[in-house]
Amino acid sequence: MRILGIETSCDETACAIVEDGRRVLTNVIASQHDLHAEYAGVVPEIASRAHVERFLPVLRTALDEATMSLNDLDAIAVGNRPGLIGSLLVGVAAAKALAWSLEKPLIGIDHIHAHLFAPLLEQDADLNDVYPALGLVVSGGHTAIYLCKSPLDLNRLGSTIDDAVGEAYDKVGSILGLEHPGGPKLDKLAQTGNDRAFDLPISRLAKDSLDFSYSGLKTAVLYAVRGFPKQDPPPPPLDDVRRADMAASFQRAAIGAIMFKLARAIDQLDARGDEINSILIGGGVSANSRLRADLTTFAKERSLTLRMPSLDHCLDNAAMIAGLAHHKLTAGQLDDLTLQAIPTAKC
Ligand code: KG4
Ligand code: ZN
Repeated sequence: MRILGIETSCDETACAIVEDGRRVLTNVIASQHDLHAEYAGVVPEIASRAHVERFLPVLRTALDEATMSLNDLDAIAVGNRPGLIGSLLVGVAAAKALAWSLEKPLIGIDHIHAHLFAPLLEQDADLNDVYPALGLVVSGGHTAIYLCKSPLDLNRLGSTIDDAVGEAYDKVGSILGLEHPGGPKLDKLAQTGNDRAFDLPISRLAKDSLDFSYSGLKTAVLYAVRGFPKQDPPPPPLDDVRRADMAASFQRAAIGAIMFKLARAIDQLDARGDEINSILIGGGVSANSRLRADLTTFAKERSLTLRMPSLDHCLDNAAMIAGLAHHKLTAGQLDDLTLQAIPTAKC
């Protein structure tokens, strides 16, 4: 069973072909970072226009790499929620056109659920060993914890009440003068800094909350760098050593909040007798070196199996869309041409 996955929810135009939900035959991603860098963030109108231009070349490259033709495909899957509406519409329209003209099944996929399937790509793990699992999605648009009973049965336990963690990385990156998206560059810069140099807040929220908040941390960095109240003249810019220290201190607080919430989630599940077999993570920030290291230690301490995506499958990609679609196809959960692009996440 070979499924074409299509992903256009934000600023990556991607097509992938995945066999039997696991084997990635091709995974083509055209990033638009060059187009958005000068605005220090994704401009929705530019993103949707670029998807229109890039979609067919990306699809052709994917078919060429897999040495397949459209007729060899068994189904067409598309990330249809959540995301930027103009961007989603391009992928959904393309998927409908392909499914209709080829007379193949059409499958709409939740982008966040797909991020939590990414750790299972190219793995031969038995699903009975993987689930139930605690799922952590950390990306530019989302930060949330899920109780996952299967690839398709996910229940959100908490999510960010303001900024997503990747968004905080990108905004702090821009405060520190790093080019958008700042996340990966900040991760690198932090490796040479002292993570205790600045005392930044680790958000915990209310006693039982599994939600996240990143706007306070981002503002704390802004005040520490630019001065508060506003100073005239402004304080001198941080030198290279202090920039690395700030990056490391921010990262300690940002990742610290995630580890704190994961521990709280597992304790709460334990207390109500909900056992989990593993931790699944996904989303762009799951490529972060400190998060990967801290999670590895955490999972060992709790005797849980940690399943992280390979670095190719952390950021937005269509392999995760096609992989998860295999499970919807085998469960008979198909869509028709009324499939909608939906900007909001499922609760
Ligand atoms: O999953 P993704 O590609 O898009 C969304 O669904 O949002 O995630 C992109 C986010 C960006 O904010 C980017 O800065 C962040 O992931 N990111 C990182 C790293 N690599 C990507 N953040 C921290 N450390 C990294 N190594
Ligand atoms: Zn994503």
